[in-house]
Amino acid sequence: MSVSIYIPGVSAEVKNDSGRQQGAYPLDMWYVAAHSKELKDQPVARTLLNEAVVLFRKGDGQVAAVEDRCCHRHLPLSNGIIEDQGIRCGYHGLLFDEAGQCLEIPGQAKVPRKARVHAYHVREQNHLVWIWFGSEVDSAPNCEPPVYPVHDDPQYVFDGDVYHYDAPYQLIHDNLLDLSHLGYVHLKTIGGNAKLHMNAEMKVESDERSVHVVRHMPNSDAPPTYLEAYPFKGKIDRWQEILFKPSHLEIWTGAVDHGTDDISDPNRGGFHMRGFHGITPETSTSAHYFWTMATNPTQNVEEIKAKVVEQTELTFDEDKVVIEAQYANMKRFAGTPMIDIHVDVGPNRARRIIEQMKANPEVTV
Ligand code: FES
Ligand SMILES: [Fe+2]
Repeated sequence: MSVSIYIPGVSAEVKNDSGRQQGAYPLDMWYVAAHSKELKDQPVARTLLNEAVVLFRKGDGQVAAVEDRCCHRHLPLSNGIIEDQGIRCGYHGLLFDEAGQCLEIPGQAKVPRKARVHAYHVREQNHLVWIWFGSEVDSAPNCEPPVYPVHDDPQYVFDGDVYHYDAPYQLIHDNLLDLSHLGYVHLKTIGGNAKLHMNAEMKVESDERSVHVVRHMPNSDAPPTYLEAYPFKGKIDRWQEILFKPSHLEIWTGAVDHGTDDISDPNRGGFHMRGFHGITPETSTSAHYFWTMATNPTQNVEEIKAKVVEQTELTFDEDKVVIEAQYANMKRFAGTPMIDIHVDVGPNRARRIIEQMKANPEVTV
């Protein structure tokens, strides 16, 4: 069964009374706003769900996010500087705290109560900074942000980056839920034989808010990245497990030497790559892609981590080229029907979940 593919910039979009855009992305959920490592001593300006936000880390280490606009003459607060108590505007020096309240107007004794800007609910955990977008601008979170313990697991080392995409966020979901593209897009890195990927046995399960895709490729050849990172002896038994959630995907891939372990067992040995993929709309037609890759070297830890992260970067650069070209062409051919094939089962289930969430924003995720 096919789903209607919503193409931002082509399909209708409306705003609700509180000013949040409906129709382009689900609300009442946590999205990734930054990697923890991005927030040091400088503010970070970022458009998230079409809203200009400045993220910063106060002197006490607490992470904050407020509207990127000074309430005096609208200079972006991201042009300012961080102080112990908050962020100071870089024009006439108004100081704002993490709640968006102005604390000080230099040279003026009284600070009017309406001297404030909108503040966002943010939470830092597992080396990620999450931000809440409610369907009403002022609604408080109705759930906790997702946890990702891999980042704090001593068995793993990881690193990552944030990529900007000139394409809607759902095209990145599609790409990550359909790893059959490895055999065509990523031949030089994590790919391998195209036929192997297209014919891999695949199991897809889903519930109201998640999709789980499992693919096994027993007795196959190791792709270049695997050979660089692990001393495989010959043929390998390879797994790919993809867990989609509306805010991010967790992709656990890896392999053991053929016939040496049960690859359905989460405690299997061998070489592991565990990817975190936080996908946050920038606007309805562009997205931020916060990714990390964790791996489990037993020796030469830093060297192997650097190699795996470098290979991952090359891989994601290849995806970006394909997805941005795809979106440019979708706009050129707007209205022309598309067909579905067997690899679309996972992506289509994720699209249905996003559609349901846009229709029922109050359901907790
Ligand atoms: S514009 Fe920010 S203090 Fe004047
Ligand atoms: Fe890819």
